[in-house]
Amino acid sequence: MKDCKDFYNDSAQLWADNWYENNSLLPYLKALINYTNKKHPKILDLGCGAGYESMRLNSLGADVIGIDFSEKELEIAKSRNPNVKFFERDILQSYKDLGKFDGIACIGVIVHFKGAKLKKIFKNMCEVLNKDGVLLLVFKEGKGYHSTSVYNGQEYERNFVYHTKENLISVMNDEFYFVEDLISNDDCKYFIFKKK
Ligand SMILES: C[S@@+](CC[C@H](N)C(=O)[O-])C[C@H]1O[C@@H](n2cnc3c(N)ncnc32)[C@H](O)[C@@H]1O
Repeated sequence: MKDCKDFYNDSAQLWADNWYENNSLLPYLKALINYTNKKHPKILDLGCGAGYESMRLNSLGADVIGIDFSEKELEIAKSRNPNVKFFERDILQSYKDLGKFDGIACIGVIVHFKGAKLKKIFKNMCEVLNKDGVLLLVFKEGKGYHSTSVYNGQEYERNFVYHTKENLISVMNDEFYFVEDLISNDDCKYFIFKKK
């Protein structure tokens, strides 16, 4: 069966079409930048997809690096954002060669991970965040998961995992502290954490 990476390669253009013109996450991106207390913070867009939120973070003054494992998403991201650097990376592997960051935007990415993999993702984030570095974590609240997704009539092996605050804190290895549950107008949670 096709996997999660195939899913994003096959649907890359759709994500770009839906999100380049949609500014609905702007207040959360502003909150992330404000929490860094810097005018031009260095921000990592982790699982950046086609680069639309990287674009908005950059337009808010951030120095942005985006990473993702989907070549097709990155192709679009690079072609539309000459001011942002994008790298093809698997976020389960260390990316500390990219340097240190004042903040990380992790939007709709942890929905694909649970257990030891989720733990590793937070560990890798921790490695690159400065002390008091800010994490914007966007996810769907709940319990349980689906292991497959359908796109264009095709089934993909793609976990979709719901999370609770308690569960997230328990896999964060005591390396982050919770700061704020930002007001949400949709069915996602927008949490701010900081690195200890
Ligand atoms: C739901 S999309 C979110 C994209 C974007 N952050 C946004 O705001 O819409 C999840 C993204 O995570 C990426 N992703 C999933 N697993 C990954 C992995 N192991 N390494 C790198 N990127 C991954 C996918 O390619 C996809 O772009």
